[in-house]
Amino acid sequence: MDIRGKVALVTGGAVRIGKAMALGLAEEGCHVVIHYDRSASAALETVSEIEARGVKAWPTAADFNDEEAVQALIPAVLQQTGRLDILINNASIFPREDFFTTDAASWNQNMAINLKAPFLLSQAFAAALPEDRPGAIINMLDSIALRPKNHHFAYTISKFGLEGLTRATAFALAGRNIQVNGIALGTILAADEGDQAVFERMAKRTPMQHPGSPQAVVKTLLYLLQAAEYVTGEVIRVDGGRHLV
Ligand SMILES: NC(=O)c1ccc[n+]([C@@H]2O[C@H](COP(=O)([O-])OP(=O)(O)OC[C@H]3O[C@@H](n4cnc5c(N)ncnc54)[C@H](OP(=O)(O)O)[C@@H]3O)[C@@H](O)[C@H]2O)c1
Repeated sequence: MDIRGKVALVTGGAVRIGKAMALGLAEEGCHVVIHYDRSASAALETVSEIEARGVKAWPTAADFNDEEAVQALIPAVLQQTGRLDILINNASIFPREDFFTTDAASWNQNMAINLKAPFLLSQAFAAALPEDRPGAIINMLDSIALRPKNHHFAYTISKFGLEGLTRATAFALAGRNIQVNGIALGTILAADEGDQAVFERMAKRTPMQHPGSPQAVVKTLLYLLQAAEYVTGEVIRVDGGRHLV
């Protein structure tokens, strides 16, 4: 797809990997909607950085715990922008909990934010896209989803589900010329400062023995959007080979 002049929505796009992808899209001439939940001032800063690259940007807020807010997001974006060509389901939570410490509330939150919101957004996105226009959905996955460890229990299952959703949605939308693919990440950015030491140990244990950069994610995103013409339902693992061990 030629993404120049198109409009992309990046959920959780104000900070970290979402921001890197939003800036990467802007560098290529794509207008970007920055969805955020709590990072309101960072969203405004990201919007300014995108506009400085000569394209349009809009901030939009929604808490994905709130199903009505999720349902309202795509219509609100379309009112702001007039069109939407690309959806990047990036927003996520990553609570540390094992099989026994995962309670029903956390289970529901992981599923609502990491799995149900991407489904509802994909459905609304596809329903709104004119039938003669190509579209793309990218789901941000995790390479541990298919090789689970006993931590981040509900998160891991939600990402496993999101990988399934990627394949099922790709099949459902292939006839509509909407490509649906996933990018499964390994050690790119530590969750927070407390996680830094564990993150560095894990990065050293990957076959490539170092963390990946947000730019590596951006390059994969641009490959899927710009070059991967006949690819749908595919997952690219940007994880230094972590899925192999
Ligand atoms: N970091 C890594 O190395 C890594 C590894 C494997 C997979 N991934 C995946 O790659 C993606 C990006 O990773 P990341 O580390 O940059 O993500 P992150 O910082 O953990 O989260 C991204 C954004 O999700 C949004 N979010 C959280 N709760 C929300 C809610 N209730 N409603 C709406 N939005 C909410 C937040 O937006 P606000 O800040 O505005 O609240 C947050 O900035 C995620 O899907 C993650 O699972 C990342």
